[in-house]
Amino acid sequence: MKARIFSGVQPSGNLHIGNYLGALKNWVEIQGDYESIFGIVDLHAVTVYQSPAELRAKILETAALFLAVGIDPRQSSIVVQSSVPEHSELAWMLTCVTPVGWLERMTQYKAKSQEQETIGDGLLQYPVLMAADILIYQAAIVPVGDDQAQHLELTRDIAQRFNSLYGETFVMPATHLPTVGSRVMGLDDPEKKMSKSATGSGHAIGLLDPPEQIRKKIMRATTDSQPQVDFDCLGAGVRNLIDISQAFMSWTSAESRTEFQGMRYGDLKKKVAEIVVSKVEPIQQRYREITSEPGYVDAVLAQGAERVSPIAKSTVRLVKERMGLYTAV
Ligand code: TYM
Repeated sequence: MKARIFSGVQPSGNLHIGNYLGALKNWVEIQGDYESIFGIVDLHAVTVYQSPAELRAKILETAALFLAVGIDPRQSSIVVQSSVPEHSELAWMLTCVTPVGWLERMTQYKAKSQEQETIGDGLLQYPVLMAADILIYQAAIVPVGDDQAQHLELTRDIAQRFNSLYGETFVMPATHLPTVGSRVMGLDDPEKKMSKSATGSGHAIGLLDPPEQIRKKIMRATTDSQPQVDFDCLGAGVRNLIDISQAFMSWTSAESRTEFQGMRYGDLKKKVAEIVVSKVEPIQQRYREITSEPGYVDAVLAQGAERVSPIAKSTVRLVKERMGLYTAV
């Protein structure tokens, strides 16, 4: 039997090349080696306010993008988190074994809560729901970008605590990071991680951005005052552009060096823009095909939920038994 993987994306904002290089590209590459489940985590998205109409549209857009990048629904299940209610049920049970101090230490919680006038409890509970997403499928591997590593450590801590209190129940999930592209930085500010929620127009490259816009954003990307690429002292902006290319092309560091060493920044940017456009355009083409077929995405999501529900139900039943909660005979 193949080991299982789970990973997810929030359907908030526009999916960008950071999401692709940090997570989705990796999913496509390894999906055949595992029993793969990929989630559109809508319950996580509402930890901060989302316009209901926009959220509904983004869920379908995200699912269509999963398909467009190459997730194969015959091999992998694509599931909307809220359509499998056991995620929330398990999250409550895990909440009860999670010390608040663990949650208050999470760097994403600290950063996100600073942006809010009132901090919703959901923001604090966020990583417990994430632990439930993973543990409910007994996933052995979780392919994510570097910003989720701390949440994954917490997931293992929660699983361990549950196992030691109630007996061996959960598989310990391992974090799987890509070698390059695990932390794509903003083009406008290479000190900040590329993010869906950042507002600057030159910050992120959306997977659905028109090619002309992609070229413009890359040509305007922040670099430094050196004239040309020098691998012995790369500034953060130039390193980011090189990493993006290397990750898209699946080059080794040596190949990347041969490609770019000594190149003037203007030429570097033109080359990077061509690489990104050449990789993103076919995704956009498939996205248009997928979304032109009425009902197709909904059917994939229904099939995904149907396939994974029995696994979720059986884990919740096991957890209830372990905890002494009532399970009807
Ligand atoms: P989210 O929606 O912020 O991001 C989805 C995936 O993209 C990766 N990522 C990046 N990788 C490289 N560079 C970047 N700039 C970048 N920005 C985002 C993320 O690491 C992630 O893999 N909490 C999660 C969603 C989630 C989840 C889960 C993930 C909920 N439950 C269970 C794994 C397993 C999140 O907000 O991802």
